[in-house]
Amino acid sequence: MADYLNETIKSIMERRSIRKYKPQQITEQELECILNCGLHAPSARNRQNWHFTVIQNAELISWMNDRIKENIPNEVVAFCKEQQGGSEDYSIFYGAPTLVLVSGEASDMFTDANCGYATQNMCLAAQSIGVASIVIGMVRFLFSTPEADSYAKEFGVPDGYKPLYAICFGYNADILPKPLKRKEGKVNYIK
Ligand SMILES: Cc1cc2nc3c(=O)[nH]c(=O)nc-3n(C[C@H](O)[C@H](O)[C@H](O)COP(=O)(O)O)c2cc1C
Repeated sequence: MADYLNETIKSIMERRSIRKYKPQQITEQELECILNCGLHAPSARNRQNWHFTVIQNAELISWMNDRIKENIPNEVVAFCKEQQGGSEDYSIFYGAPTLVLVSGEASDMFTDANCGYATQNMCLAAQSIGVASIVIGMVRFLFSTPEADSYAKEFGVPDGYKPLYAICFGYNADILPKPLKRKEGKVNYIK
């Protein structure tokens, strides 16, 4: 491994989900670089059938947080609260100033894979330029309410696309967590 410790591998190995952000907004250049890397991900049959909604409006982020908190199960609440000192004031977005809502074409069997590639491209690009990130699957609790379709329209999600999760971007306000231990037995070889 040491022989291959180039910048790409360093970004992969050092990326961690960050759960405490500075209020300072990331720069336009950083945002454009991250989005562009997402757009350059591979996709089945080159469909590129993802959609990214950039949300940098603090009021909207706060509204999303409130709606999601009304709908999430207790055990998830406990985890989020614990990460933020036990306060009722916790945010499921951990104070990040930028969210990218990732949506994929609902009818495509490879939507999850395509959007996953784009998401990891964005997280690794962010890591490589000093921007922290975390994927927030709990956004599904906003888009599983009876108002989901009208919310999706308001967020500019194209017809036929479903919102999957959000990615938070911002500057890390915490100590950098160490890499998590990897589970054993996840690879087998047939030679
Ligand atoms: C699809 C997906 C959804 C996730 N949703 C959340 C979430 O809602 N809240 C959260 O705190 N972390 C969320 N995470 C982050 C994972 O908890 C994290 O990736 C995992 O614990 C491994 O840690 P690492 O990213 O630092 O390696 C999500 C990750 C993925 C890939």
